[in-house]
Amino acid sequence: MAALARPAPLAYGPAAMPAAPGTSPASAPCAPASSTPASHGTAALGTASLGLDEIAARGPFTVYQAAPGYAGDLAAEIGPDLLARRDPLLIARGAPRDLAWAQNTWLSPHAAPIASIGDAARRLKAVQRNWHCVPVGHFRRAALIAEKLPKVAARPLAFPEPAPAAPLGAWTLWDESALLFSPRCSSPFPDGAPRFAEDRETPPNRAYLKLWELLTILPERPGPGQLCLDLGGAPGGWAWVLQSLGARVYCIDKAPLEPRIARLPLVETCRGSAFGLEPETAGAVDWLFSDVICYPERLLGMLRRWLAHGECRRYCCTVKLQGETDDATRAALDALRAIPGSRLLHLSQNKHELTWVKLS
Ligand SMILES: C[S@@+](CC[C@H](N)C(=O)[O-])C[C@H]1O[C@@H](n2cnc3c(N)ncnc32)[C@H](O)[C@@H]1O
Repeated sequence: MAALARPAPLAYGPAAMPAAPGTSPASAPCAPASSTPASHGTAALGTASLGLDEIAARGPFTVYQAAPGYAGDLAAEIGPDLLARRDPLLIARGAPRDLAWAQNTWLSPHAAPIASIGDAARRLKAVQRNWHCVPVGHFRRAALIAEKLPKVAARPLAFPEPAPAAPLGAWTLWDESALLFSPRCSSPFPDGAPRFAEDRETPPNRAYLKLWELLTILPERPGPGQLCLDLGGAPGGWAWVLQSLGARVYCIDKAPLEPRIARLPLVETCRGSAFGLEPETAGAVDWLFSDVICYPERLLGMLRRWLAHGECRRYCCTVKLQGETDDATRAALDALRAIPGSRLLHLSQNKHELTWVKLS
């Protein structure tokens, strides 16, 4: 069974990337972990930032990019390791962690002083061709640097086309004369957000984009001969995606599927509660999809029954969140995260919700 794609482990140190010509000691990769300082709390940090020199001197660090509007959730998830925050970028002490709220993780971050716009562009081009800028300030200056870099093709993906294989680095102008950049990132997409050639005619809603995104980043997708349970599947955006891959779809929802989706040959539908189906009576299910609107603890309870039964091995579930994360939600998220072989992630198509995935 294919493992879920996690951020690749980071090799810090000189071997992690080729040195840019003219790289000064201050622009070298981060210092070794032995110089890790005392903890620095989120509350004390607020939105202020440590200087890059100070961050680099403290030891290995990782840069995480949040989706627009979710930097606070990411900061809370990082906790006391947070060193600096300039939305949407957050810098945290230590090697990369698999954080649910990180839309893109900069796996090999470097800080470099720059003498000029041309100097910044030269440094980046000396490392690799493809770069994406994540501006956090000094916007005009950052745009002038970006203009000097090779253009990166921005063609939207035509699902089920695979994600691009070429590495895409990320950079920002952290200060007027300080470049922060990472040749390797967890996502091959600018800002960690794939853009698709949308179908504005056929699907019944825009929920299909969430599944397109998820199935583009997973190492495995449903296919012919497989049965997908689509819980809370009305009006049928996900069912439309799954049947387009040749899989059979059995959809359970209290609400009806849109009739033209319900009529598709590979789609079957049943009106009722997703929580009423027991795995023992469901027969052989290859994939369980859930987009049911419910409390995370209720989803967890249902998933525990399916996992204990053990027949279905692939799960893709939206975890709907309320306003403030209360204790029950936090406990449910921790329990989901702790399920072996699983991942919690925030897709760019997720609003205030997460996606829980397990493929083994
Ligand atoms: C966000 S919508 C799902 C959209 C769907 N994935 C699509 O692609 O079109 C959430 C769905 O959950 C359904 N739902 C809420 N509670 C449910 C329950 N207990 N059992 C089954 N479906 C439920 C709602 O009726 C609604 O259709």
